[in-house]
Amino acid sequence: MFPDVFFSFSLIIHCREINRIIKIAEVLFQDILKYTMQYTHDIVIIGAGLAGLRAAVEAAGNADIALISKVFPTRSHSGAAQGGIAGALGNEEEDSWEWHMYDTVKGGDFLTDQDAAAILAKDAFRAIYELEHMGVPFNRTPDGRIAQRAFGGHAREFGKAPVKRACHAADRTGRVILDTLYGEAVRKGITVYEEFYLMDLLITNNQLAGFIAYELATGEIHVFHSRIILLATGGFGKVFKTTSNCFANTGDGVYLAYKAGIPLQDMEFVQIHPTGIYGLGVLISEAARGEGGILRNRHGERFMEKYAPALKDLAPRDVVSRAISQEIQNGNGINGEDYVYLDLTHLGDKRISEKLSDISSFVKIYLGINPAEELIPVQPTCHYMMGGIPTNLDGQVLTIDRQIVRGLYAAGECACVSVHGANRLGCNSLLDLVVFGRRAGMKMIQDLKRIHWIPLPAHPEKATIDKINRLKKNRTGEKTWILRNELQKTMTKYCSVFRNETELTTALTIVQNLLQRYENVVFDNHGETFNTDLMETIELESLLNLANVIIVSALARKESRGAHCRDDYPERDDQNWLKHTLIRKKGNGQQLSYKPVTISRFTPKPRIY
Ligand code: FUM
Repeated sequence: MFPDVFFSFSLIIHCREINRIIKIAEVLFQDILKYTMQYTHDIVIIGAGLAGLRAAVEAAGNADIALISKVFPTRSHSGAAQGGIAGALGNEEEDSWEWHMYDTVKGGDFLTDQDAAAILAKDAFRAIYELEHMGVPFNRTPDGRIAQRAFGGHAREFGKAPVKRACHAADRTGRVILDTLYGEAVRKGITVYEEFYLMDLLITNNQLAGFIAYELATGEIHVFHSRIILLATGGFGKVFKTTSNCFANTGDGVYLAYKAGIPLQDMEFVQIHPTGIYGLGVLISEAARGEGGILRNRHGERFMEKYAPALKDLAPRDVVSRAISQEIQNGNGINGEDYVYLDLTHLGDKRISEKLSDISSFVKIYLGINPAEELIPVQPTCHYMMGGIPTNLDGQVLTIDRQIVRGLYAAGECACVSVHGANRLGCNSLLDLVVFGRRAGMKMIQDLKRIHWIPLPAHPEKATIDKINRLKKNRTGEKTWILRNELQKTMTKYCSVFRNETELTTALTIVQNLLQRYENVVFDNHGETFNTDLMETIELESLLNLANVIIVSALARKESRGAHCRDDYPERDDQNWLKHTLIRKKGNGQQLSYKPVTISRFTPKPRIY
């Protein structure tokens, strides 16, 4: 029987399938081994959003490269990015990379590392035209160039007035870049393991040997032996109740790095996007304001004029989210509720359907509203994490002493190369992913010559299997969703746009209590096939620990900067706090330390818009 089975699969050539065939053979031969599959690749990229895919495309052809993703690659959250990708191409009006760099530094409230901001702004030209040449269908100007529109915090002449800098494909820019890069990765023959979930990193003495993954379709545990890993696992907006993030954004890579002893950087800086659909959090792109949309309070007043006289509705997100929250606190929310209106009615049907078709269909589907005729109820929604795994400019992960962790790289939202500082500008994220994803891809190939195989520890999968068995044995605790709901509500209530010592301390007490209750968490499905119940339970461990780290970092930072706004410390305090936070696991607690900001060109100034 074995030869028949074997030859019926003879056309399948990549390693994953060969391993699978061996496994089928073993099952046919009476399950001789209790098998944990082992895969070997020079480089494994974990996460198939734009950062992971761009790195994969760069490295392809130079080594044996695999990509693993907990969702099917084109379902990665990068596909939800709407408004655009920033680059001072100057296709619509005069622009310069230096203005872009300045806006990125000022938008980040001067916590941005300026060497990273310079790379981002300068490399945008190459990165965007490269995407165009790969086939990304950008909107066009009448003379055929890539069209650009205004976006929050992007300005001309060092902050004077909004500038059109966001290259876009209607309001589905992330979607089209994701599909294009995935096509490139497949074309270049990258091995893809889809619906494989990262469970543990195998790191000893600052050296990486591989990782453990759980295959969602079968419930099998797999050991990956590799010389290099790139973590491109995305953000963790699911820590919050009101969020624009997809269900998969649970921060697994960031948490596992932290658990392995790597510090996390600037975790207190959580971006709350001004315009989520009221009650749902689903993103209404800033592109709506870039195209001319206006925020209005219950009196119909264009209130952003009071808060940011120069940029108005196109001020950076932290400024606009605070303004909306302030209006709501002052009783100016619509009908006294916690939302305001986004007014697109003056834009007209044609412009809305050409430039904002996705958000237009979202509000029609979710709210039954035609945005060309009615006002859209919006409220701030958690959108993006500025903090993450510290890296240098080439994606190499750094320890607390700024040493390189051999073989471990990170890029994208899970990483903190510190290009966004305390507050990211809209459209700088897609740019970050393709610029720093590519740099990590190049560096991994360059380093491969020097990075040798580290032997796997004995029984590397044991801890993961024990953990699953332990979770399955729990009988008396609370359900996963109960703990997760409490966490998300707590974070949205106490750790969102405005923060203070009392509320952060309340949040910390609740989250630490949830961590204890998590020890006894129970879930119903104990099966092997697509056990999302089990996966969500393991994801909850990441969410709880990352929430804890956010709160501890936020409590310590006694100033207001960018997205971290303490109403008990309302001023930015450069004297004491112009520094990056590092937080590291120490026993059952954490240890905080700080490192300087790289300031090469723009001296910190008060931030006026
Ligand atoms: O509003 C938006 O379209 C979001 C863009 C971004 O986060 O870069």
